[in-house]
Amino acid sequence: MAESLKHIAIIMDGNGRWAQKRLLPRSAGHKKGAENVKIIAKAANKLGVKYLTLYAFSTENWNRPKDEVDTLMSLLREYLHSDFQELHENNVRILFIGERYMLDDDIVKAMENLEKQTAQNTGLTLCFAISYGARQEMLQAVKNLACLLKKGDISESDVDIQTFSDMLYTKNIPDPDVLIRTGGEFRISNFLLWQLAYTELFFSQTQWPDFDEKELESIVTQFKSRERRYGKI
Ligand code: IPE
Ligand code: IPE
Ligand code: MG
Repeated sequence: MAESLKHIAIIMDGNGRWAQKRLLPRSAGHKKGAENVKIIAKAANKLGVKYLTLYAFSTENWNRPKDEVDTLMSLLREYLHSDFQELHENNVRILFIGERYMLDDDIVKAMENLEKQTAQNTGLTLCFAISYGARQEMLQAVKNLACLLKKGDISESDVDIQTFSDMLYTKNIPDPDVLIRTGGEFRISNFLLWQLAYTELFFSQTQWPDFDEKELESIVTQFKSRERRYGKI
């Protein structure tokens, strides 16, 4: 039986190398990469996927040179103020996960506005991981749990996999069925470590700005022929 596909997560890697190969500044790759986001979101929506989570900026990406971080933040700003009408009309709901306190206030405001504007949409949920790190997410969940336990709001026997999942940013979002990493690296880079426990992994040599609808469709086809066993036989 074909596996059902609700949630695709993508590590959008390779912008810098895409630009370097063309003798362009890394920022040109980020710009091109940002332009690809709505194209792939539309493609995922067309495929009937319910959730698309895109890793756009990791907690560790704050450690890049200041000029690159500044470029990425201005691109993010520009992106948040760009035209979302088409996605909105296509019933797309937008969410953001990650450490918002690290971001400038106006960026956080723009994120909240988009979330509010699209909150009632029932098509694809497009979730951006920005200033996101899975270890930080889990650590925060542990701290919150410890606090609840200490106050006596919950007891140790109440803590199970579901309780823990519900303390993460991705509460109410099913675990990814598919993870795609573009850019040719074979690693997770602190993305959704808890949620990826039984996700099917796909690694693409394509740099993110070149990743297109055709390749997405091909991965979806491959996914459908995989057998997920979840430890059973
Ligand atoms: C991904 O592209 C975008 C971010 C991490 C913000 P990179 O900037 O990591 O591009 P490469 O991996 O250096 O090519
Ligand atoms: C992962 O890419 C983060 C994003 C794509 C947002 P990186 O380029 O930061 O990952 P590493 O440094 O190669 O592990
Ligand atoms: Mg990279």
